[in-house]
Amino acid sequence: MSKEIILSADNLTKTYEETEHSVSALKNVTFDLKKGEMLAIMGTSGSGKSTLLHIIGALDKPDQGKITLNGVIQDKMFTEPHATEYRGENIGYIFQSFHLLKDLTVEENIALPLILKGANEALLKEKVDQILGLMGLTPWRKHRPIQLSGGQQQRVAIGRALIMSPPIILADEPTGNLDYNTSNEILNVLVEMKERLNQSMILVTHDANVAAYGDRILFFHDGEIVDSYVRTTDEADMDCILDKLKQIMEKSA
Ligand SMILES: Nc1ncnc2c1ncn2[C@@H]1O[C@H](COP(=O)(O)OP(=O)(O)OP(=O)(O)O)[C@@H](O)[C@H]1O
Ligand SMILES: [Mg+2]
Repeated sequence: MSKEIILSADNLTKTYEETEHSVSALKNVTFDLKKGEMLAIMGTSGSGKSTLLHIIGALDKPDQGKITLNGVIQDKMFTEPHATEYRGENIGYIFQSFHLLKDLTVEENIALPLILKGANEALLKEKVDQILGLMGLTPWRKHRPIQLSGGQQQRVAIGRALIMSPPIILADEPTGNLDYNTSNEILNVLVEMKERLNQSMILVTHDANVAAYGDRILFFHDGEIVDSYVRTTDEADMDCILDKLKQIMEKSA
């Protein structure tokens, strides 16, 4: 049974004009994201992964192409004030470097999107308590980011991304600043959120160990999708998936 499509990217194209030359960061990128799917975008440095997320997150504008969300073409999403509105309603962003506010506590960082929306005290408390519990951060709610490990800081960032229940989470190298074990822990948190909340997400990485957590993997090279891989339900073995990813990478590099 095929799952419902939540987001479609159609022919996204983006060229950056530099003084002496132009860089084709994305060339006719077309794909769908399904509801409750973890889609991994994998590619080497400069292959266009962050550019793609910036466009889907309305942080950057494509030269051509369109985004459809829940069947509705988002034809105004790249101009203000629509861009801010689109981001607030639809996107939770997770970055490599956490992007937490250092003067705010854990619970204030998590609550920030709701506070900015003017939520009342009762709703704030209910939502923040729920997210702290989900992320295993309740004992640290009054701490500041500097008092936390990298893995805990990324949990705060994930909590902040989830608090508005956005249809889509965009994660750009979310484990890039973490060691191997902490990376796996954070990726398991994301998988758990996908399963418990039926959360749709796009996970960008250059690392096959990270991409292997995706339900489906799109391989990027020079701004284009050059290959894809779908994990089958009977394929529980990570080593087997990793081998396949490495084979595809060698072929498409
Ligand atoms: N704001 C910008 N101005 C000019 N060129 C840019 C800009 N952003 C990205 N580029 C160029 O577009 C190409 C794709 O960049 P992008 O950041 O999307 O790659 P990436 O796959 O995310 O790489 P990395 O793994 O290093 O993060 C690169 O050649 C990059 O130099
Ligand atoms: Mg990048």
